Parts: sequence; C-alpha cells; structure tokens
Amino acid sequence: MIREAELKDYHAIYEMGEKLHENYSKKYDLVKLTEQEYFHVLVYEKEKKIIGFLTYSSVLDSTDVLDIFVLPTHRQEKVATSLLDYMITNANPKTTFILEVAVDNLPAINLYQKFGFKVIHTRKKYYGKKDAYVMEREAVNE
Ligand SMILES: CC(C)(COP(=O)(O)OP(=O)(O)OC[C@H]1O[C@@H](n2cnc3c(N)ncnc32)[C@H](O)[C@@H]1OP(=O)(O)O)[C@@H](O)C(=O)NCCC(=O)NCCS
Repeated sequence: MIREAELKDYHAIYEMGEKLHENYSKKYDLVKLTEQEYFHVLVYEKEKKIIGFLTYSSVLDSTDVLDIFVLPTHRQEKVATSLLDYMITNANPKTTFILEVAVDNLPAINLYQKFGFKVIHTRKKYYGKKDAYVMEREAVNE
C-alpha cells in the first residue's frame, strides 16, 4: 500500500535515508518539511513494514524528485515503480518532473527511463568525484 508518510513512519524513513545520504536525519527535518505544502513523502507499506519511500517537491508546473529508496530485500519487486506511478498519477498533469542521478546508477537510470525521463544535462562531479545526469520527464500534454 502506498500513502503519504505519517509521523510514525519517520524513523523507518530516516534509517533508509541514511543509506542515501550521510546524516540524512540531520539534513532533512521531515517534521518541518512536511509542514510545507510543496513537500511530499510517500511510503510503501507491506505487512505493516515500511519497505520503500519517495520524496518530492512540487511547485507550480515543476516537480523535483528528491530521493527514492527501496530496502535491498524488496528490490526488483516493482516497489519503486509503484511509488513513481503513484506520484505521477496524483500530480498536476501539466507538471514537468526533474531529478539527478549518478551516472553509474544503472538500476535507477533504467527505472527513470521506463517512466519517460530523458537525460538533458550532465553535472560534473556532482556527487564528489562522480558526475550526475539531470533527467527530465515532460508534462504528458505538452
Ligand atoms: C533504484 C531503486 C529505487 C529501484 O527500486 P526497485 O523497487 O527495485 O525497482 P523496480 O522493481 O520498480 O524496477 C523497475 C525498473 O527499474 C530497473 N531496475 C531495477 N533494478 C534494477 C537492477 N538491479 N539492474 C538494472 N535495472 C534495474 C528496471 O528497468 C526495472 O524494470 P524491469 O523490472 O521491467 O526490468 C532501488 O534499486 C534502490 O533503492 N536503490 C538504492 C537507492 C537509489 O539508488 N536511489 C535512486 C537515487 S537517484
């Protein structure tokens, strides 16, 4: 089941977030962020356990996909697909989606390509020594 995160989910999200960014819980105050209308956290819950999450920020016709993570034990079970599907289905149809991904993160790049994201730019040394692709998915009706 996919839903917007609640306070009781934040611990599980912070644990997963740490695998993405060092000091995730210090850098991202979910209590404060989710008070903002533009900021969203989706969780995928299975048998009362949070097994994946997605954060995004949506302002006017532009949505930044910030983080997506699925527990290693539940990968390749379409959890990320369902999270992205949910976000896109519930978004303004006129929104453009944009994200950054490390150039060697093939699982994520493949996933985004399946949703119609295209590489529009390469940011040099965005992740330390590593380059990042900026990927964009145009609004469906454009
Ligand atoms: C990237 C990630 C979110 C994918 O989650 P997932 O739930 O396993 O993905 P799904 O099962 O929905 O897979 C959807 C598509 O992604 C691609 N994909 C997923 N895992 C893959 C892998 N190990 N190798 C290659 N492609 C992969 C495939 O195109 C797949 O479609 P297919 O099953 O028809 O081949 C997950 O691997 C993850 O949490 N990685 C660590 C965090 C991360 O890198 N986040 C992205 C930061 S930008």
